Amino acid sequence: MQAKCRCKIKNMKLMTNPPESNANAGRGAKEQENVIRAHVRVSSELLIVCTSYTNPSRTLSYLTAPISTKSSTQLNMAANSVALILGYGPGVGAAVAKKLASNGYKVAVASRSGKTSAEGFLSLKADFSNPDSIPALFTSVKDEFKAAPSVVVYNAATLTPPPDTSSIFTTPKEAIVSDLNINTISAYVAAQQAVSGWESLPKEAKKTFIYTGNMLNTAPLPSPTLMTLGIGKSASASWIGLADTLYASKGFRFFYADERTETGAPVGSAVDGDAHAEFYAQLANHEGDVPWSATFVKGKNYAKF
Ligand SMILES: NC(=O)c1ccc[n+]([C@@H]2O[C@H](COP(=O)([O-])OP(=O)(O)OC[C@H]3O[C@@H](n4cnc5c(N)ncnc54)[C@H](OP(=O)(O)O)[C@@H]3O)[C@@H](O)[C@H]2O)c1
Repeated sequence: MQAKCRCKIKNMKLMTNPPESNANAGRGAKEQENVIRAHVRVSSELLIVCTSYTNPSRTLSYLTAPISTKSSTQLNMAANSVALILGYGPGVGAAVAKKLASNGYKVAVASRSGKTSAEGFLSLKADFSNPDSIPALFTSVKDEFKAAPSVVVYNAATLTPPPDTSSIFTTPKEAIVSDLNINTISAYVAAQQAVSGWESLPKEAKKTFIYTGNMLNTAPLPSPTLMTLGIGKSASASWIGLADTLYASKGFRFFYADERTETGAPVGSAVDGDAHAEFYAQLANHEGDVPWSATFVKGKNYAKF
């Protein structure tokens, strides 16, 4: 896993344009440009960063590839249960939502755009850079389905490349705070809300919180671009591990899910929505003896590295 990173991200195209933080108000245009947080799709970013770990010829086709519609063989353990997917896009979010729905869950999804689905999932709109936006999502889910979500998946993530990509210390502290809100604090607030709702659910309901992670909580990849993402994933892994340790005996499970290749390397751009969906459905049923640090491989589910 010590492959050398050869990426150059200087001319990276911004894919989303978050509002400027107050801290940036009144700054000159050039300075603002330096401070702009280049929020990019994390998977796209990892494509650039991790090509030396995976097949360099791979493209982003997984983002638009049709999702498998083959039916599940798992027993439907979830009739009348509710799942909430925080961070719903065409990759992991869509595949997980579809899989849980096919297993009988009533599904709600949330994103900044509030994108709707052909399946008719309850679609909610929120920006997780503001952790205070999270509780209202749980209220909306309870209002709609008359039950708290037993399964909560936190899938959103972001990163901010430093203005000078040769130095992590050119990253403005405001960017670190904002990204931490998305990668950790909003996830934590979601877990707070989940636990509060779980207390109202029947004892036999499987209560599960799943955070979509990567391997940055275990070791840094040698790229300045990944710094704020790594900070957030590492911090999240810390409280998720503690929560699972303290609550598993009560039937509340917390997982930091991290897809890897067969050799244990990060999947990078080859992140597989359907593989996540299969594994998350297993986690939601508390099947197998999967620890909180839930590394997994497509087709094999949990794999210890
Ligand atoms: N294991 C690995 O090595 C690996 C590799 C790549 C990615 N990943 C992880 O996979 C996850 C993403 O997977 P994906 O790209 O396939 O997901 P996806 O479900 O296709 O997209 C996630 C969605 O989250 C929403 N989102 C982003 N920022 C948000 C915010 N601030 N507030 C609310 N919603 C927000 C975006 O929709 P809107 O734009 O509408 O808000 C986006 O479409 C991330 O957690 C990433 O770290 C892991």
